[in-house]
Amino acid sequence: MQLFQRSLLEDLQGDALNLAQRLTQKEAVIGVVGLGYVGMPIALEYCKKGFRCLGVDVSARKVEALNQGENFIEDLDDQEVREMVEKGMLSASTDYAVLRDADVVFIAVPTPFNANKDPDISFIIQAGEGLAPHLQAGQLVILKSTTFPGTTEDYLIPALEQSGLKAGQDFYVAFSPERVDPGNKVFHTGNTPIVTGGIDPTCTILGGHANNQIIEKVYLVDSPKVAELEKLLENIFRSVNIALVNELALLCERMGGINVWEVLEAASTKPFGYMKFTPGPGVGGHCIPIDPYYLSWLAREYDFETKFITLAANVNESMPYHVGSLVMREIARQPVTLAQARILVLGASFKKNVKDLRHSPSEMIMLRLIESGIPYENIDYTDPWAPSYEVAGQLKYSVDLSPEAVAGYHCVVLVTDHDAFDIPEVVKHARHVVDTRNMTAGIAYPEGKVTLLGLTPGRKRLELAH
Ligand SMILES: NC(=O)c1ccc[n+]([C@@H]2O[C@H](COP(=O)([O-])OP(=O)(O)OC[C@H]3O[C@@H](n4cnc5c(N)ncnc54)[C@H](O)[C@@H]3O)[C@@H](O)[C@H]2O)c1
Repeated sequence: MQLFQRSLLEDLQGDALNLAQRLTQKEAVIGVVGLGYVGMPIALEYCKKGFRCLGVDVSARKVEALNQGENFIEDLDDQEVREMVEKGMLSASTDYAVLRDADVVFIAVPTPFNANKDPDISFIIQAGEGLAPHLQAGQLVILKSTTFPGTTEDYLIPALEQSGLKAGQDFYVAFSPERVDPGNKVFHTGNTPIVTGGIDPTCTILGGHANNQIIEKVYLVDSPKVAELEKLLENIFRSVNIALVNELALLCERMGGINVWEVLEAASTKPFGYMKFTPGPGVGGHCIPIDPYYLSWLAREYDFETKFITLAANVNESMPYHVGSLVMREIARQPVTLAQARILVLGASFKKNVKDLRHSPSEMIMLRLIESGIPYENIDYTDPWAPSYEVAGQLKYSVDLSPEAVAGYHCVVLVTDHDAFDIPEVVKHARHVVDTRNMTAGIAYPEGKVTLLGLTPGRKRLELAH
């Protein structure tokens, strides 16, 4: 692995040198396929550096909105997006033909899993096939979507080569995984180092040079496969460590009398060899619940079971069920029937201060409560980032958080720690609170009013008589 440096461009010749020069002189046109959480920040960042950007998306709604200067990604500045569109630096289309004019094309389409949690890379293949009829000699294609090792070479390239052009000879290909962290105020596209691996040294250098136009540090690796696997490792690392502290939270509840949050705070005073992760209601978003399965699926082909991945997924996936049972335990304590019980869930998005609802634990928790007998219509949610939320195939609408409204519920479940929530007020007016994120820390409340994930206060363990 090495850090990209401009001196590497001295080895380039012909079309590759021409592309490198067009990038250096900001004459290159950048194409972005998939205008979502990953694609849009890339496009805007290039525009801000003086490159013209062409976006392609299958969503006519997104394309139309962007062409009218409308921003739909919360981390991006509305004004900046509008300005770039008005200046003609940024435009979008549903037609791949516009990419004939691009020098570099990023592909940032979804990589979900199917009902059996097997990888679904059909969007990548569709993007490759969509681009193929318009692919030009000398273009560089960079795949950004998180996926299993081998996708770039075994799936994307065959789709692109339907053009009749040959990868590595007529056009260039690299894989460069994305590290954007929506909602992160410190790390953004420009200051987050990135990894790039091309199918040969020329592709790697070109991939590094293209990324280096908007990203300070680009690390070059030997192949797309290394880059594909390192991205999965990043997310598996998070999944495993989150599972570890989730398990510890469950153990603390079982033992009683030890607050897991205090344990974690204490452990994180160690300045080396420890990294803080926190328990919660379950993992969500487009990465942590999905990406680990991409590797465990691939491993099966090699008669290998990725035990850590499976174990971590089991623990993390059990958390919304556990939170559901904490709520049900509280309802059982109150003089209310299941048919009358009213629940308010605070937070729909999967993490704080973003509007991303994908795989959010909130819906999972609501589904568990419905399964347990609480009527669908008795479960409300509130979230300033999500005015509406599809739960079990029907739309729910965010309710207001007035003291009277809060007091009307038998239990309020704190799921997403958005800064906008006034937790002391909620705790004050709620009949009971189930806190899955330690949002009630430092707030005074009567004993028994809050159930905190990872703490069963002062419980005496009952043992079998024999
Ligand atoms: N969201 C994140 O924080 C994040 C971080 C790192 C990596 N990733 C990875 O990046 C990839 C994209 O994720 P995202 O969050 O940006 O997804 P997204 O759903 O926000 O955006 C994807 C876009 O691609 C479009 N699209 C789908 N198929 C297409 C096609 N064939 N042609 C053109 N456009 C198409 C969709 O309409 C959508 O606008 C995924 O592989 C994801 O795992 C996401």
